[in-house]
Amino acid sequence: MKTLSFVPTETYRESMGQLLVLYTQVDRLIMEICAERIASAPDEDARLSLAKQVGDESRHVAIQRRWMAQFGTDTTPVISPDQEEMIRQHFRGLPWLEFLADMYLCVEALGSEAVENIVPLADPGTRESLHVPLSDEQDHIAFGVNRLRQELAALPVAQRAAFLAAIPARIDRLTDAFHGLGLDVAHLFENVGADYLALCDAVLQRRDQVLNQVAA
Ligand SMILES: [Fe+2]
Ligand SMILES: [Fe+2]
Repeated sequence: MKTLSFVPTETYRESMGQLLVLYTQVDRLIMEICAERIASAPDEDARLSLAKQVGDESRHVAIQRRWMAQFGTDTTPVISPDQEEMIRQHFRGLPWLEFLADMYLCVEALGSEAVENIVPLADPGTRESLHVPLSDEQDHIAFGVNRLRQELAALPVAQRAAFLAAIPARIDRLTDAFHGLGLDVAHLFENVGADYLALCDAVLQRRDQVLNQVAA
């Protein structure tokens, strides 16, 4: 158990720095993607939730940038401009329900699960920097899960069942695309003290949990 006398090694500092850069890049991308969605969202409730999220993500980016400067992180992007554009294009092309599934079940819920698993292992400053962002992510996930559940409830039974059955494959494709970015995430997580296989298990459990919530 790491305690008050936490002294980060250089390897820890570099790997945690890379994870922070990644989290911040993803938050900024989410901010841009959700901002673009506001105009085409199906109703006022969705527009307001997306707009709130844009503000939240902007705050997360600012908090993380401040912390990375203090932590002495090399803030060279870990996702290239081309990869960022590929991610934007993916979300841009999605119909509303698919957008909800990919953004909230996959990126927000599973991404947050991975970050949450790091928190107990992190140095106090990093842990503190993640406090506000992770609590806001819970709001975003709740919006996505509830909204998707409502939308699916309004569909014909067979269509709803088909959509639900296809979600695990959507998540698998996004996970493969994430690994295809070429970041050695397993190594980064191990270097900050995580058991990577246990972390993957936790993410899978979270996936099942959100799938059950959407299907409820
Ligand atoms: Fe965020
Ligand atoms: Fe979020």
